[in-house]
Amino acid sequence: MQTSLKSIEEQRAEALRQTEFIAETRSYVLELEQTLGRPLKSNVTTFGCQMNARDSEKIRGIFAAAGFQNTDNEDEADFVIYNTCTVRENADQHVYGRLGHLNSVKKKKKDMVIGLCGCMMQEKHIVEKIKKSYSFVDLIFGTHNLYEFPELLLKTIREKKRIIEILDSTPYLPESLPVSRKYPFKSGVNIMYGCNNFCTYCIVPYVRGREISRRPEEILQEVRNLVSDGVVEIMLLGQNVNSYGKTFEEPYSFAKLLREVCKVPGLRRVRFMTSHPKDLSDELIEAMAENPLVCRHLHLPVQAGSDRLLKKMNRHYDLAHYMELVKKLREAMPDISLTTDIIVGFPGETEEDFEGTLRLVREVGYDSAFTFIYSKRTGTPAASMPDQVPDEVAHARFDRLLATIKETAEEQCARFEGQVHDVLVEELNKEPGLVTGRIGHNLVVHLPGDASMIGKIVPVRLRECRGFYYLGEVAF
Ligand code: SAH
Ligand code: SF4
Ligand code: F3S
Repeated sequence: MQTSLKSIEEQRAEALRQTEFIAETRSYVLELEQTLGRPLKSNVTTFGCQMNARDSEKIRGIFAAAGFQNTDNEDEADFVIYNTCTVRENADQHVYGRLGHLNSVKKKKKDMVIGLCGCMMQEKHIVEKIKKSYSFVDLIFGTHNLYEFPELLLKTIREKKRIIEILDSTPYLPESLPVSRKYPFKSGVNIMYGCNNFCTYCIVPYVRGREISRRPEEILQEVRNLVSDGVVEIMLLGQNVNSYGKTFEEPYSFAKLLREVCKVPGLRRVRFMTSHPKDLSDELIEAMAENPLVCRHLHLPVQAGSDRLLKKMNRHYDLAHYMELVKKLREAMPDISLTTDIIVGFPGETEEDFEGTLRLVREVGYDSAFTFIYSKRTGTPAASMPDQVPDEVAHARFDRLLATIKETAEEQCARFEGQVHDVLVEELNKEPGLVTGRIGHNLVVHLPGDASMIGKIVPVRLRECRGFYYLGEVAF
């Protein structure tokens, strides 16, 4: 049965209840540490998209608030969590492979606690398989249960028996929980959860549930809090940000939200992910163009360059509409970088369909693209479509697609040579004496510098294009 989202008052009460579990866990962890004579350590591994990465920051935040020390080495952790993704078959396989390794570690470390959460856990057949073949897993919880992780954490370490909690929809949003950000200077912000689009190949609507938009005032408060905590770049997150606010009693647009976010004092950059072409409005293009804070980069997944396939994919746009959007975006922001997602080998894809995809890639001139070989997902309509494309055909097309994208990406990358762009310095480079950052267009730049520059936005001359990235130097 689908539970519906609880009222704001109930949400607050639940958040408070979970905070109490964190306090209780903290004293329990202290006791354990005294008995053991050492700190307890936790490790969280993320598979999948930015949404999962943000969820993991919440899980890490709860561990930290409950007294666990974070470790990057899972073998030495007392509590390991895999936050899983199931968008393609190889994502699942990856998790099973890593679980095999964890099993061997746990054989030597009997008290190690292993938890699984995220999208894979919303699939019944996967949970059955884990129960049967991976019996060393102690905790399993679903995407709709994140809000109660503090409670589940305490139960797992105290009761020492297997716990499985999987809801079918979200009663409480996982807000007001502590967060440990990966980067002090940039952060994702969930503006909505779930997806209502049901593209025929995609498992996400089944494992993430129906679309729920957060209230604008809550989002803005979170952005303000982040900025006062040192964040300069925000990425607004949702599976389809362009349909933000459509389910409110009084509809509210993503463009409006973007304009409000840009007004937060101290914020320097705003990005967002992901935009669905069917809902990309003129108002949004205007809001982007008028606001220098909005990065000149748009990820606009096209999926295929064939109207026939787009229809079978249930994408609700055709190539003419997509190209019209590209034209409008480039008219409003001439130097904008466009990136995309493309699937090859969707059921029924012919050589002609595929050549349409290659043509489209050349016509748009993407800065880069994520390319995927179609992967059959149990329960989605495409899984039972006739004419599944043979592996070797899909692989051969995939290689041709990569080669074409490489050409357009190199061409696009080179267009900035010699220019000065603001770079947000993100980390030290492996090469001593160099740091690495990104320009608004999302291109990576390496430049001479040191740790003191991390988190700062500096003007950089993009001296030399090296295919997909730049070597630069601070411009005075
Ligand atoms: N909500 C985003 C994408 C989420 S999944 C959007 O609509 O754009 C990220 C990408 O994974 C998708 O854009 C698609 O290209 C790819 N993908 C999703 N399901 C897939 C499948 N079954 N096989 C191969 N690729 C898939
Ligand atoms: Fe999947 Fe389509 Fe939703 Fe994106 S919009 S998450 S591809 S169903
Ligand atoms: Fe994967 Fe779930 Fe994201 S299936 S792509 S982690 S929403």
